[in-house]
Amino acid sequence: MQNRIDPWGSEVVKDYDKLEKEFGMEPFEPMARKLPDPLVYMRRGVIFGHRDFGRIADCIRQEKPYIMLTGLMPSGKFHLGHKMVADQIIYYQQHRGKVYLCVADIEAYNMRLASLPELRKVAIEEYLTNYIALGLKPKNCDFYFQSERSKDQGKANAYYRLAGMAAQKITFNEMKAVYGKISPGKIMSVMMQVADILHPELPEFEGRAPVVVPVGADQDPHLRLTRDIATRFSTDKGYEFILPSATYHKFMPGLKGIDTKMSSSDPYSYIALTDSPKLAKEKIMKYAFSGGGNSVEEHRKHGGNTKVDIPYHMLFYMFEPDDKKLAKIRQDYESGKMLTGELKQILVEKLTAFLEKHQEARKKAKDSVSDFLEK
Ligand code: TRP
Repeated sequence: MQNRIDPWGSEVVKDYDKLEKEFGMEPFEPMARKLPDPLVYMRRGVIFGHRDFGRIADCIRQEKPYIMLTGLMPSGKFHLGHKMVADQIIYYQQHRGKVYLCVADIEAYNMRLASLPELRKVAIEEYLTNYIALGLKPKNCDFYFQSERSKDQGKANAYYRLAGMAAQKITFNEMKAVYGKISPGKIMSVMMQVADILHPELPEFEGRAPVVVPVGADQDPHLRLTRDIATRFSTDKGYEFILPSATYHKFMPGLKGIDTKMSSSDPYSYIALTDSPKLAKEKIMKYAFSGGGNSVEEHRKHGGNTKVDIPYHMLFYMFEPDDKKLAKIRQDYESGKMLTGELKQILVEKLTAFLEKHQEARKKAKDSVSDFLEK
């Protein structure tokens, strides 16, 4: 039973190999080589696994239509972990994908006990505003709430109808096998997510087309279940789906250590995109776990450990896109030539430049929020 992944749990998924061996996920690396100007996450194995992504890679290369859908749980501040998802969304939009963005407010209402108006506010002021500042465009983007799919009644009916029908396709025992302990709130969240992933293919939306769902590894149970359900719809006329594809990324570790997450409930575990450069610097300098030696002498002698060093990971995940420069930093740090303070300084400079630029862009982004909502 330890093999189960709990998408609502706080545990960090660590054993990525196991996902491949036991759950039939495939390694992403060969796919990265097929893509035009792949993201750093794609090149460096941060996006490590996929299901049926070949179909999407073909659409991108052959300029054929496809859809990218993902969901967000609005919770607290938008941080660097969320930025990883945003960068992927924007990548697909820039590569001619139609973007579907779901605010999982019904899921958050049930699982996190927040109120719908509060969730809506966070989704817009934190998530959407930051997406826009990072480059998301209203054209070819359908941004919606689970609690409010569309003002178009035909579309809204089709989405909620699908959520209702999907329940016929699974048994209680199957649900228990996938999720372990379940509750009415979990069942509802699952049925909504199944509808989220499959509904773009309905005639009221895009019609049959390949869909890719980029998510964190913890979401795989939902994807496996949705793909099973999609197969079982094949006998319902008008509900023949192309099996949705998915990609899986590792989580950017929290500031406190390699086996922790950036968690919205602990401001010293993350860097938010609205943190002032001063605060961000303080978080890195004081709180980011270092793999450096305990003293300068020790560090010079044994070098730093990049496997556990959080500032190094932040450069690897996001802030040093140049592979050669990153390799040099790694070499110098591991050999002891570069000190922890120097490594942190490199990161702080990159981070400051990013935050300053982003926070300017955020001011302008506020004006275009309404372009995404009036549908
Ligand atoms: N369950 C997802 C999360 O916890 C949110 C979500 C809802 C989602 N619907 C989705 C993710 C559809 C991907 C696709 O973050």
